[in-house]
Amino acid sequence: MSAARNIHSSGDARRLAQRRLPWMVFDYIDGAAGNETGAARQRAALDAICLRPRILCDVSERSLTSTLFGKKTGRPFGIAPMGMCNLSGPGADLMLARLAARHAVPLGVSTVASTPMERLIEVAEGNAWFQLYFSGDGSGTFRLVERAQAAGYETLVLTVDVPEVGRRPRELRHGFTMPFRIGPRQFVDFALHPRWSLTTLFAGRPQMANFAMEGFTFDRTESRAKADWSTLKRLRDLWPGRLVVKGVLDPEDAMQLKSAGADAIQVSSHGARQLESAPAPIHALTEIRAALGEAFPLYYDSGIRSGEDVLKACTSGADFVFLGRILQFAIAAAGEEGLHCLWDVISDELSIAMAQTGITGLSASELAGATTPGAQN
Ligand SMILES: Cc1cc2nc3c(=O)[nH]c(=O)nc-3n(C[C@H](O)[C@H](O)[C@H](O)COP(=O)(O)O)c2cc1C
Repeated sequence: MSAARNIHSSGDARRLAQRRLPWMVFDYIDGAAGNETGAARQRAALDAICLRPRILCDVSERSLTSTLFGKKTGRPFGIAPMGMCNLSGPGADLMLARLAARHAVPLGVSTVASTPMERLIEVAEGNAWFQLYFSGDGSGTFRLVERAQAAGYETLVLTVDVPEVGRRPRELRHGFTMPFRIGPRQFVDFALHPRWSLTTLFAGRPQMANFAMEGFTFDRTESRAKADWSTLKRLRDLWPGRLVVKGVLDPEDAMQLKSAGADAIQVSSHGARQLESAPAPIHALTEIRAALGEAFPLYYDSGIRSGEDVLKACTSGADFVFLGRILQFAIAAAGEEGLHCLWDVISDELSIAMAQTGITGLSASELAGATTPGAQN
């Protein structure tokens, strides 16, 4: 029996993934900054939001579609950029790309993806956004932008919340590096997880594929601290397509980004992997929406674990939501079948939550009915 049948929630996917993945890989994906109080605060803040149950509304016809930059999407949620996805299972990047194509939602293609950006946009049938990290003096960074443009990307996501890579003790304890080294500690870990080790190592150690070309080097832990507002301006001048800035938690920064020519802002704490003491991003979302006004495109990721969470983010001001590590857990748990299964679980949870809150769509006017202002547990 496929393990996918046992996935009834994102928690199930995580539990199954924990059994199958080497500790080093599980903790790399699951880990958060510092003592992980930021991850706990993020979860508590989402849990504290109540949705408003409504009755007798005729919610028999419900739509989960949304619109991004004028294009219809099959769901109001997409796939957040994640580096080295193939660690969760061979071909994980391509599974995510096929999922993006199937539901017409954006696939975030990480700078440190384990499949080249050209292949991912092709498999995603154009439903792909390239995520950019500024690094070093920026020369490699700007070459990646030119490559993304040549590959047909129309949307660039600049991630700005990693001036330095956060300290994630769970990851550090296992000696996680990219590309990873196999010392005695990792050898034992891999030997105790033979299913992962045989399939992953047989398929070839996952690489940072965008750099597996002559002239490109990338150190994941290299400082990105040189980036400033002039870097953003350079990028804005260079990039003719849409520019989304990801990793924003402060209303003042959001206002400045709007003036600096960003086409959209993505509120995110990087899944609580950066600043442990950052505010809960779902609270930041509400404040940033209030500062930017109704019309400015605003997206959200971090801590989304269910369809109800997606609805909470939408009612808190997000036009679109991105899922992160739970998708990797689903792949680790049961491959592509597991991924589809979890995607359907999240979709069902959202659809049922919409029915119970009396809404049939996700337009701003419908969403206004789904929350009880100020209602907290
Ligand atoms: C394993 C892993 C790798 C990630 N790599 C990147 C990356 O390369 N670029 C990026 O902008 N964000 C990256 N992120 C952050 C995600 O895009 C997203 O912000 C985060 O996963 C959302 O939180 P969630 O996992 O709790 O849903 C990564 C997250 C994880 C878990």
